[in-house]
Amino acid sequence: MIDVCDILDALRWHADVGCDEAIGDEPIDWSAFTARTPLRAAPPGMTPGAQTAGGMAGGMGSGGIPGAPRPAPRPALPFESPDQPLGASEAGIHARARAGEAQSLDALEAALRAFDGCPLKATAMNTVFADGNPQAPVMLIGEAPGEDEDRQGKPFVGVSGKLLDRMLAQIGLDRGKVYIANILPWRPPGNRSPTQSEIAACLPFLERHVELVRPKLLVALGGVSAKTLLNRAEGITRLRGQWRSYEGAGTPIPLMPMLHPAYLLRNPIAKREAWRDMLALQQRIAEEEIKYP
Ligand code: URA
Repeated sequence: MIDVCDILDALRWHADVGCDEAIGDEPIDWSAFTARTPLRAAPPGMTPGAQTAGGMAGGMGSGGIPGAPRPAPRPALPFESPDQPLGASEAGIHARARAGEAQSLDALEAALRAFDGCPLKATAMNTVFADGNPQAPVMLIGEAPGEDEDRQGKPFVGVSGKLLDRMLAQIGLDRGKVYIANILPWRPPGNRSPTQSEIAACLPFLERHVELVRPKLLVALGGVSAKTLLNRAEGITRLRGQWRSYEGAGTPIPLMPMLHPAYLLRNPIAKREAWRDMLALQQRIAEEEIKYP
């Protein structure tokens, strides 16, 4: 007899390794498999064929669990040949072409939603485009949606978003006075760090996003955002605290790298540095006599 603690442990383990979304139409009882279940066999109680609907999202590597059925191959994307997987640069080229055609934020959002070049889209529930005021002079860019953002389709709505709101409020800002987006519009499973090829596939959309919004100041929240936007290898603790320049939008835009609110939740002592950076932002807004719409 399985007790509740074992079930909770199993659930926790699945969440920790990133299996936190049901993406198949049919549940699969993996516990019904034994080492002797033949490869490609359906689990007991399932018709052979039905297993391909959900599979395992390719998460177990090429070997998989001995005796478990193999996931169905991912269908080829419109611009990729089935025997040659899409390289990051090809996805990036395709993304740049689609993003470059967009002449408005609505058109950019539609192009992003139609873009199939980043595999994260397949496991995400929502495309998280942006929140806040697109006319705002300050644009904040985080890393990628987490679980709450993925569910609600908006950036920074979970616990780290609540902290971000409190930090902004300390210098008189709120979501009506800033605009918020992420480097990646789709949640990496289990909140793992995004890979370079995922970033490369999506970055042209973010770059166009900044071009269309034309903010006066940028804030990069966290290391992934700062390193990507500044094209630098140093970590956030080295990059933060100084105004830098974002060069991806034609004219340079001053950019302040800051510690990510999720990091501050784990390391409350670092809020001292974050507070200094918020004050630097407030001072720059005053110096440049930035007006809000
Ligand atoms: N962390 C991010 O970087 N972005 C979000 O939208 C939420 C959490």
